[in-house]
Amino acid sequence: MPTERIREIINRELKELGEEGREKAPERVIMNYVPPRQGRGPRFHLMGQGEREFIRMNSNGYLGLSQHPRLIEAEARASEEIGVNPGGVRFIDGTTKYHVELEERLAKFHKKEAAKIFSCAYMANLGAAMTLVNERTFIASDELNHNSIVRSVRMASVPAHHKGIFRHNDMEHLGEILQAIPSSAERVIIVMDGVFSMRGDYAPLKEIDDLARKHDHRFHDGVFTVVDDSHGSAAFGQTGRGTPEVTDEWNVDMIVSTLGKGFGAEGGYIAACREIIEYIRQKADTYIYTNPISPGMASAGAVSVGIVDSEEGLGLLSSLRENTEYFRKGIEGLGFETIPGIHPVIPILIRDAEKVKHMVKELCQRDILVTGLAAPIVPPGDDTIRVQISAKHTQADLDYVLGVFKELK
Ligand SMILES: Cc1ncc(COP(=O)(O)O)c(C=O)c1O
Repeated sequence: MPTERIREIINRELKELGEEGREKAPERVIMNYVPPRQGRGPRFHLMGQGEREFIRMNSNGYLGLSQHPRLIEAEARASEEIGVNPGGVRFIDGTTKYHVELEERLAKFHKKEAAKIFSCAYMANLGAAMTLVNERTFIASDELNHNSIVRSVRMASVPAHHKGIFRHNDMEHLGEILQAIPSSAERVIIVMDGVFSMRGDYAPLKEIDDLARKHDHRFHDGVFTVVDDSHGSAAFGQTGRGTPEVTDEWNVDMIVSTLGKGFGAEGGYIAACREIIEYIRQKADTYIYTNPISPGMASAGAVSVGIVDSEEGLGLLSSLRENTEYFRKGIEGLGFETIPGIHPVIPILIRDAEKVKHMVKELCQRDILVTGLAAPIVPPGDDTIRVQISAKHTQADLDYVLGVFKELK
């Protein structure tokens, strides 16, 4: 029977993943959130762990907005008003006032003319690739780009000789690739993460823009820059506007990002000029043929953008920066190797996969959740424990975590 045969084949492949050490660990299940109290930040209960309270040093919720009462209330109210789901795709009456409001706020936040929401940033990247790339496009992509960009580039309808992967943040290499683009290319897209989520470093947008301008005249449609700032938005820069703000380079043609990290909500989006956004609305299959985020989530997202763009947001971003600096200094003071930087993603390079596994387990036994990264997720030899700082961590939380790292050292 075909089902039996396919089960056997898949089981064999799963076993191979285990033997090669590439299988993912079973997923931990979060049962509930324990609000901050007595100098302690948020904690979480996990399935099977009774009353133990875990501190998350591995959450993308850099500002702790996911549990913000105004987001929770906004989601509930919109669901009551309209329903829990949109009832259709956007062009078949699935567009609610909350989707429109969120798009207007995101465009303004990123200083762009317009924005479009997708179900997530992964879909936004795929949608951008489907829409803007044709067989006469050349794509230059950073070697450490997020999987959603890598996959989008692979799926894009360009011939192999129209793709160039440049060494991570290496502007000389990008320059060489641009210089060597064949004359068959009419449109060039340079695409990269804003903040690189495994490293906490960021793209040199000024230098990238300089290169784009330098080569722009050579191509019929010009050179176009796309930055996926999923870990930068609502996390990085004085006002949370991400890598463009940190590099003071606003001349990025298209920003792809997520509401599912710093903004504490869910969904992805593209912000760009009006024509591109309308083109995406007309042509991006991952926008057109799929439900949008729910009205409740759109409303929570809109409220979140409003909070980030307020005094409260500035305060949260300032706490996040202070916590990041405090933890970075602390962990470096203990003699751990890190990738220097200013982003709340702090990679602690252990350079030994077995040690990483052991330390992640030990930290978990002391109620601390971190992410262990080994090859192939990071280059061989770069085995890392990734810590992510939140504005909601207290100094006592950070001291406790640093204390455990000291013990493990
Ligand atoms: C750079 C980048 N792009 C896209 C994504 C995916 O975001 P989403 O969960 O909204 O699909 C992530 C998240 O891991 C990311 O780091």
